[in-house]
Amino acid sequence: MSSVELKSIVKKYGEVTAVASIDLSVESGEFVTLLGPSGCGKTTTLRMVAGFIRPTSGTLSIGDVDMTGVPPHQRTVGLVFQNYALFPHMTVRKNVEFGLKMQKVLTSERGPRVQEALELVQLEALGERMPAELSGGQQQRVALARALVIRPDVLLLDEPFGALDKQLRDHMRVELRELQQKLKISTLFVTHDQDEALSMSDRIVVMSEGKVSQVGKPTEIYEKPQTRFVADFIGRSNILVGKVESKGKTINAEGLILPNKGNVVAGAEGISVMIRPECVEITQSGSKATSTSADVKGKVTASIYLGSIVQYSVQINKGPNLVVTQNNTGSENLKNLTVGDDVDVSFPDSAIYILPG
Ligand SMILES: Nc1ncnc2c1ncn2[C@@H]1O[C@H](COP(=O)(O)OP(=O)(O)OP(=O)(O)O)[C@@H](O)[C@H]1O
Ligand SMILES: [Mg+2]
Repeated sequence: MSSVELKSIVKKYGEVTAVASIDLSVESGEFVTLLGPSGCGKTTTLRMVAGFIRPTSGTLSIGDVDMTGVPPHQRTVGLVFQNYALFPHMTVRKNVEFGLKMQKVLTSERGPRVQEALELVQLEALGERMPAELSGGQQQRVALARALVIRPDVLLLDEPFGALDKQLRDHMRVELRELQQKLKISTLFVTHDQDEALSMSDRIVVMSEGKVSQVGKPTEIYEKPQTRFVADFIGRSNILVGKVESKGKTINAEGLILPNKGNVVAGAEGISVMIRPECVEITQSGSKATSTSADVKGKVTASIYLGSIVQYSVQINKGPNLVVTQNNTGSENLKNLTVGDDVDVSFPDSAIYILPG
């Protein structure tokens, strides 16, 4: 059963097309993330599912029931916003209870339901506090409890961790995913943070300019991007323009000669070749015991220390500039390559990915 299904959904504001025909589904118990740059239509899509925005055209169903024209209060969706939107004059308990009052749930039933929701987010001890007396992370958990207490068919979250610092964000990420899996609640999550999307989602919907660029599991999105936009947007990447040479045996990618393992047709031009920086190995020139014929030479043109990784720029001889990253596995393992150093560059054939289309 599909929990949420959008078919050819369009939203226009006069001349502005915020969402340009989207097809999208969230299966029962699935965690789906809308990922894309600012202004690509993520919030608009989410608010159409919640019912706050009416689509210009297309249909939307929740739990296989057509909801296209149904007002928000008749949809059992739980919403969490970036700024939490807690009621400042109400205690935590009253904030969480609010949704149940709106649903006209009996008073006797409300107490245990609120308690259950507070326990889910581990806030049972703080029920009598006011929102201003809570930390950012605790406020975020109240917002989550408030969304969950109504036992929604679908949980909708719009950049819920945007206001938290990085450490807390990483922690909340794990907490939310565990809770979502425990409750098996269908979830549509919005973010422009790729780490968040890759680490939490069953499937990711990458959006660009109001359209879906690619839908897939995190590994598919990262390792097999279908478009140049997705390859560029997710992670760091080297994207080179190439042509097939030597009767189809090799690809000349801006001067870098690569084996044509993808069997691109002989004579093809303008193909995009992706090589992820973490797949490239560089070593001080001549320091390697053996060197394979596929290896190439280059020169380090930049070195940036980023803590867990070191990022280099390497100018390939008679070829392109490649971004290369190395894990910082301990200072003695760091090769301390510096700008101007000559290096041997190698990468496995499996690191060469031809972008389709
Ligand atoms: N009420 C409105 N009137 C006119 N244009 C709008 C309106 N709401 C949104 N838009 C436009 O629609 C597009 C999509 O907006 P939306 O808020 O969905 O983007 P988003 O992906 O959530 O971006 P962000 O990551 O910045 O939150 C933007 O170009 C925006 O300017
Ligand atoms: Mg938004």
